[in-house]
Amino acid sequence: MCGIVGYIGARKAQSVLLDCLGKLEYRGYDSCGIAVLNDGIEVRKDAVRVKALAKALAPLNGTTGIGHTRWATHGEPSKVNAHPQCDCTGRIAVVHNGVINNFQKLREQLAEEGHTLASQTDTEVIPHLIEKYYDGDFVKAVERALKDIEGSYTMIALMAGESRLVAARKDSPLIIGIGDRENFLASDVPALLDYTSRVIYLEDGDIAVVNAGGVRVKNNGSPIVREEHKILWSVEDAQKGGYEHFMLKEIHEQPRVIRDTLAEYIASAEPIADLTAAGGTGPEDLLILACGTSYHAGLVGKYIIEGLVKIPVRCEMADEFNYAGQVSARNKALVITQSGETTDALKAVKKLKEAGCEVIAITNVVGSTASRLADRTIYTRAGPEISVAATKTFLGQLIALYWLALPYARVDIRRLDELVRELRQLPVKVQQVLDNEAAIADIARQMAGYENIFFIGKGINYPVALEGALKLKEISYIHAEGYAAGELKHGPFALLGSRTPVVAVVAQDNTCEPVITSIKEIKARRSPVLVLMSEGDDDTAELADFVITVPQIDPLFSPVVNSVALQLLAYYVAKQRDCPIDFPRNLAKSVTVE
Ligand code: AGP
Repeated sequence: MCGIVGYIGARKAQSVLLDCLGKLEYRGYDSCGIAVLNDGIEVRKDAVRVKALAKALAPLNGTTGIGHTRWATHGEPSKVNAHPQCDCTGRIAVVHNGVINNFQKLREQLAEEGHTLASQTDTEVIPHLIEKYYDGDFVKAVERALKDIEGSYTMIALMAGESRLVAARKDSPLIIGIGDRENFLASDVPALLDYTSRVIYLEDGDIAVVNAGGVRVKNNGSPIVREEHKILWSVEDAQKGGYEHFMLKEIHEQPRVIRDTLAEYIASAEPIADLTAAGGTGPEDLLILACGTSYHAGLVGKYIIEGLVKIPVRCEMADEFNYAGQVSARNKALVITQSGETTDALKAVKKLKEAGCEVIAITNVVGSTASRLADRTIYTRAGPEISVAATKTFLGQLIALYWLALPYARVDIRRLDELVRELRQLPVKVQQVLDNEAAIADIARQMAGYENIFFIGKGINYPVALEGALKLKEISYIHAEGYAAGELKHGPFALLGSRTPVVAVVAQDNTCEPVITSIKEIKARRSPVLVLMSEGDDDTAELADFVITVPQIDPLFSPVVNSVALQLLAYYVAKQRDCPIDFPRNLAKSVTVE
């Protein structure tokens, strides 16, 4: 996690850096800071959000600088632990995203050599190492310092008297934004949209020397040319557009996301990816790996693909797979990651590739690490997602999974036509859910006083229950757990009662009856029940204390409308509880540490 930025050019660096940092706060926001080159280096930092730091600062004069917004890994959020971190002389400043595994040993060595390290961060060893190796050549000193470091060290260094920034990428993203006699560095594209649409993605092991007039990149000691890319996202994509929160804006963008994502897939005559197994015998034995919300999309994908293509699908959390998962070269794997930068997901890609397995990535970010490591990439067209809670990218992932499965569906042509028609109707149906926002907000206000809530679903809506609970807990801080409907009686029933409501997702398929049985059992234990169900199901509505309806839909697509309703529920519960919806405590958008 953490967002890092750099600027070199003719503008006042302070305002560029603070502006860009504000757009990277989704990566971490427990403290922040900037260092600006003037006569020496001026560092300003604190354990506050970027806006508060900006307000507190007097104007600085320099036109070169670096900045950081932090998600703490080593040392609590505090002024001293905030970045930039400096060397003993205060002439070298560094911002860093990653984890230095051998920092303890390096600290001890540096201390023995007379360096005084003031913070508890792993990062602080970097400026001290640069200081140690500096003999008149800043770039060489950085290169030499990095040789001592084990771990992940995407960073930017600034030195007094040097009109250049030195940046390195290892295991977390870093891009260079190309301007007119000015250049930018940032962890992610949204930070730079106001300034340029020309970017270079650095690769692992790259060291870049950036000045106002140009960029030089080396990898493994040799100069290398990295291609320039044009960014298609607009400035508006990364703004709130009149909504109170990014999350609400992103929830409302979902009809558009489905249309854009489908339009791109429909335009291609070929299936978006080949599910044929390594032996060429047709799809068999698919492995899906992901984390968090993307893992829930993967679980829905398992039900879609098993239901349509009739092949066994394993869906595992990437981190668990990395430690214990078995894989053979015959497996075909899908790795789902909206950011394309999640460390656990990237480790899974590497493990799969080492086993000789073909990897298809589903991601929202063009040029992301996942897209570069995978054999093939399917893009979702959600646009930048700023809110930490994933919403529109989840829906984009579901659309990708439906479209991936359809060419291989073992169903007759009439059913296939029906499915494609229903898929094309999804933007309209999602809009109908959004049109019901006021009613959902009203129920949310009534749910906001509880401290424990269960979510249940069955079959393809079991992952929807998991996702509903994740969304609620991450933004409202209510303890929420998602369960398979049939599993609740095997233990969690002990927690039921009038202060523990249950949200039950009821679909119009073979899971309907058993979920209704579960609801009756739950009611008998006095838990209030909120039923999420299709319009017109009056019998089920009668069982419920609260009802949210969604438009009638083919059960295969019910996760799409149900998830949107649960996103709105989570949003309005969090709003009622006055939570910082876009930036929940302790979280970050892109988890680039293990
Ligand atoms: C979802 O709301 C979370 N922010 C989180 O679970 C997220 O989905 C997870 O960290 C995976 O991220 P990725 O899709 O970028 O890999």
